[in-house]
Amino acid sequence: MLNEYNCWLQSREIKNESGINLKTVSTVFSNDALIGAIISEQAAEEYRLGINRLLGFSPMLSQYKTGGDKAAVYLGTIKSIAGELKQDLYQGSLREGGFVIKGNSDGLFIAGQDECGLLYGVFRFLSLLAQGKASSSMDIKEEPASPLRVINHWDNINGTIERGYAGNSIFYKDERVDFQRDRIKDYARLLASVGINRISINNVNVRFGARFLITEEMLPKVAELAEIFRPYGIKLLLCVNFNSPMIIGKLPTSDPTDKAVIEWWNKQTEIVYSFIPDLAGYLIKADSEGQPGPFQYGKNHADGANTFARALKPHGGVIIWRCFVYNAAQDWRDWSLDRPKAAYDNFIPLDGQFDDNVILQPKFGPLDFQVGEPVAPMFGAFKKTRHIMEVQITQEYTGHQIDLCYLPWVWQIIMDFNTDYGPNSTIKELVGPYKEGHSFIEGFAGVVNVGLDNNWTGHTLAQANLYGYGRIIWDPKLSAKDIAREWSLLSFGAGSTGEKIDDILMKSYRTYEKYNAPFGVSFMCSPMGHYGPHVEGYEFSRWGTYHRANATAVGVDRTSKGTGYTNQYSPTVSAMLENPATCPEENILFIHRLRYDFVMRNGETLLQNIYNTHFEGYDEVEAMIAEWKSLEKSLSPEVYKSVLSRFERQLNNAREWRDQINTYFYRKTGIADKQGRKIYE
Ligand code: GCU
Repeated sequence: MLNEYNCWLQSREIKNESGINLKTVSTVFSNDALIGAIISEQAAEEYRLGINRLLGFSPMLSQYKTGGDKAAVYLGTIKSIAGELKQDLYQGSLREGGFVIKGNSDGLFIAGQDECGLLYGVFRFLSLLAQGKASSSMDIKEEPASPLRVINHWDNINGTIERGYAGNSIFYKDERVDFQRDRIKDYARLLASVGINRISINNVNVRFGARFLITEEMLPKVAELAEIFRPYGIKLLLCVNFNSPMIIGKLPTSDPTDKAVIEWWNKQTEIVYSFIPDLAGYLIKADSEGQPGPFQYGKNHADGANTFARALKPHGGVIIWRCFVYNAAQDWRDWSLDRPKAAYDNFIPLDGQFDDNVILQPKFGPLDFQVGEPVAPMFGAFKKTRHIMEVQITQEYTGHQIDLCYLPWVWQIIMDFNTDYGPNSTIKELVGPYKEGHSFIEGFAGVVNVGLDNNWTGHTLAQANLYGYGRIIWDPKLSAKDIAREWSLLSFGAGSTGEKIDDILMKSYRTYEKYNAPFGVSFMCSPMGHYGPHVEGYEFSRWGTYHRANATAVGVDRTSKGTGYTNQYSPTVSAMLENPATCPEENILFIHRLRYDFVMRNGETLLQNIYNTHFEGYDEVEAMIAEWKSLEKSLSPEVYKSVLSRFERQLNNAREWRDQINTYFYRKTGIADKQGRKIYE
């Protein structure tokens, strides 16, 4: 990696081994739509920039003319190329954003199903060229599995980022929208290069000045952002506060069924669209962790969501409605309440009651982005509700971008999870456009990990998580390993350095899990900050996040004999989880309360496994550091040093986790480590 800022779009002079003369390019655009024209122009520009970046020359681009000179490369849509050049690249229709890259004796054709498809086709071609995989006989057809490929920013108007670990916001400063145009454009390029098509630009906790982003005073600046993202096929979403009718409109209520409230939203939304005609819509966190919502008026979430949906409908917008709704004022003494059941209980009974431009957004797991959570039971269960899945790219519970934690590893596990509601019901098979009566997941929302740090993500290797998010939601069948390989080839070039980095990435999730929270035990982290251990930090809190360790057992019984959480799954999944012998061990303490002498599949007791994993996790961080040090000569000092300093901090963190957890369980049980390793009294 020569320059951290450029991420996977490095400038490097590679040899053009594709066998294609990439110099003369014809653009074959049929620009009927204004936005389409803007996007295809950008696609051509990205081709020029990309070739320049990789091969060191600027190709000549010209608009195709019948009877004009032949070119080597043609950029257009499948339709325009078929019309003008009589090249039949694809019969039938690909999904929005799909593309074909095809080489034949007439040249190389990069053709989109639509203009966004052309843009993605150009980026894929450049990526393959950089990986040494482009050739004159290429024949590739791709279309995104997920129609909605969303990035969520939790950026606050004062410039801070909720759960952000890479510097301040790229969008805000000092209570206003304030950004560097070039930086936003570079960001849009990075996102489009991995297929992102939606971005929410403010925190779901809409507080203080951010509540006024939808007003005439603030919209001009927001519209400027929309304009930068537009050529990259990325549409903006705005997070809104449920109580806006009271806060902005000074109405006495925000009841979503009140006539004046409905009118207010209709009017305000018209104003918003007068500034940003192609806004994708709103995103909302309602009745959640202090954010207002329909419950305060005795209304349900369909009543709430539909009011927004109807205001957005005339403009072609959608309301994305989060399902992170639970009782955040729980009593730890009460074992009958179980937070992971809440999203299903609140939303599944409403299946079929939402308007067709409402999209629900549940988190991937039932609790809160924990390291060893199972996939939430609502996936596969919705039949008549559009929905997407939320994941965190930002490393809130996975090491704050200080510790290395390669997330596509766990996203692959999520994709492979079988909801077992019939044939073809793994998550990856369910990803696709909405169809009534089916449980298709229309896409993903990823809470992003970027900030103003020069390398965008704090930890340079955490760039792989942003890259991997885009790739796996485009194609959920990609493996974590394939993604790591692609990313390291693009970021570090061919050769053993990149391969060793893939290796380190691939080990990192399990290593983190081992010293942090093995076997699905959760919330042993420090309260509020969520970095470092505090084994009982959440035990007596109001958040419903308990592990309930005592002298003989740990974990929450969520089987039908316990809280009944497992009943929310399909019968086969429920049966699989209910039985400790078949429940995945990475989730076992999430589902079961187990005695420390419970014998795990490796023949050791649970307690011994807790000790083992924590010792191993620490040792594995040490080994990763040694591997990283062996790469010093082949890395730029900037990258080598910044990553090494993170690893050193990670080792301290792993040491703290190892010793605090081991000591905690040793003190509880009085049982020593079989291998006699050091456990502090
Ligand atoms: C977590 C996180 C909060 C965030 C919330 C959410 O609880 O710690 O910072 O606001 O999730 O997803 O809304």
